[in-house]
Amino acid sequence: MDMLDYSNLIYRIETMTPQDVTAVMDIEIEAFSAPWSARAYDYELRYNEMAHYYSARPTQELVTPIVERQSLLKRLLGREKAISMLEASPTVPLVGYGGFWLMVDEAHISTIATHADWRRRGIGELLLLAMIDGATEVGARWVTLEVRVSNTGAQRLYHKYGFDVTGIRKRYYSDNNEDALIMTTPLITTIDYQIKLQGLKGVLFKRLEK
Ligand SMILES: CC(C)(COP(=O)(O)OP(=O)(O)OC[C@H]1O[C@@H](n2cnc3c(N)ncnc32)[C@H](O)[C@@H]1OP(=O)(O)O)[C@@H](O)C(=O)NCCC(=O)NCCS
Repeated sequence: MDMLDYSNLIYRIETMTPQDVTAVMDIEIEAFSAPWSARAYDYELRYNEMAHYYSARPTQELVTPIVERQSLLKRLLGREKAISMLEASPTVPLVGYGGFWLMVDEAHISTIATHADWRRRGIGELLLLAMIDGATEVGARWVTLEVRVSNTGAQRLYHKYGFDVTGIRKRYYSDNNEDALIMTTPLITTIDYQIKLQGLKGVLFKRLEK
């Protein structure tokens, strides 16, 4: 993914690292009724060569205590050093994440979640967009996922990005035997889809720009 494209936004999208797993789990446990374990994420990040995971964090501008620390650090250390320290700061919260598995020419979204306190601010959409961009870059031609039939909020987000219902997996979720809808994009490599994506990206980036 071209990180430069995403550089002027109030959220940073980065590749998820094993150091993020603790923060991911804080969100995961709240967001899913059958959460993955920290071990599962750790495995995905370290050993699953098909896996592509992303994290979303607010930039410093959005996080007041950090802005305060920034000005103090700048005064004490000078700008360059303060910025490099703050970029490594673990105190910038992780507010969302998502990931997919690339299987030949299909990207299968395995997870996407936004911290409950940060929802409806465009973070889920930004992550989905980053995954579609990332998937295109690594050679995917379709993006697909499963979603609970009851999860109409997430379905609305996927519809916006051109996903359609392409199947049903009966009693897919073992915690409550709920059915899963399989939702899939059209071919993402076509001019038509890329034009649609650029349009959606333009609107979202305007909303999220610094
Ligand atoms: C689904 C989820 C990732 C969306 O994240 P988010 O950061 O709130 O999403 P966004 O703010 O980018 O929303 C984008 C669009 O999706 C739709 N949407 C998202 N949540 C919605 C909700 N609760 N109700 C209705 N529409 C919703 C809307 O169209 C929204 O656009 P709008 O706010 O301009 O109307 C988030 O609700 C979540 O983490 N849920 C729990 C985990 C989960 O269900 N993951 C999906 C598994 S398949």
